[in-house]
Amino acid sequence: MANLFIPVILGTVRQERMSEPVANFVVKQVSQLTDVETELIDIRVLPLPLDNAGPGAKIPAVAELMQRADGFIIVTPEYNHGYPGLLKHFLDLHYAEYVHKAVGVCSVSSGSFAGVRAVEALLSSFKAFGLSPIVPDFNIGDVEKVMDETGQFKDPATYERRSERFLQELVWMTKTLKHGRENFELS
Ligand SMILES: Cc1cc2nc3c(=O)[nH]c(=O)nc-3n(C[C@H](O)[C@H](O)[C@H](O)COP(=O)(O)O)c2cc1C
Repeated sequence: MANLFIPVILGTVRQERMSEPVANFVVKQVSQLTDVETELIDIRVLPLPLDNAGPGAKIPAVAELMQRADGFIIVTPEYNHGYPGLLKHFLDLHYAEYVHKAVGVCSVSSGSFAGVRAVEALLSSFKAFGLSPIVPDFNIGDVEKVMDETGQFKDPATYERRSERFLQELVWMTKTLKHGRENFELS
């Protein structure tokens, strides 16, 4: 099977966001997988339209990346028990690009619940998009305590091990759905 392309979407625009070093860690872990390509899609650097919404307002170069993707990783912080509004706005720019593709979520939080409420909030929209979420998440709680001031995990081995299980499942689901898209037509 050809290389899989699994981009990592960084879903917050906040200054000093801790989700950014986490997303960089995830990109590094995915880059080390055999036969998987990745790229960071940072919604902060995109010219997101603020006077329109939905696929009619998509950014062509980004939509092309989303179309090329075989699966997705979303790195999201938890904001007030949800996920950032601009992440939803970004996700809403696409629709056909998601159908029958896998998605895994990495949540980031300064609290001990590790952003699980942001993950839960995303699930209902995944159904609307036709995205298939994997069961394990990669949840990072107490992020300010577990990372140092340079944005590195103080105990990288623990997070490498945890990301490995998450990525194994995501790659399996991504490959399986790619096979399905390429070999089975819906009548
Ligand atoms: C507007 C806002 C709301 C937040 N709400 C929550 C929350 O509901 N639960 C939580 O654990 N952390 C919350 N946080 C803290 C974030 O989890 C923390 O900033 C963490 O570093 C991830 O977000 P970041 O990538 O913006 O840094 C909130 C932060 C902001 C800016």
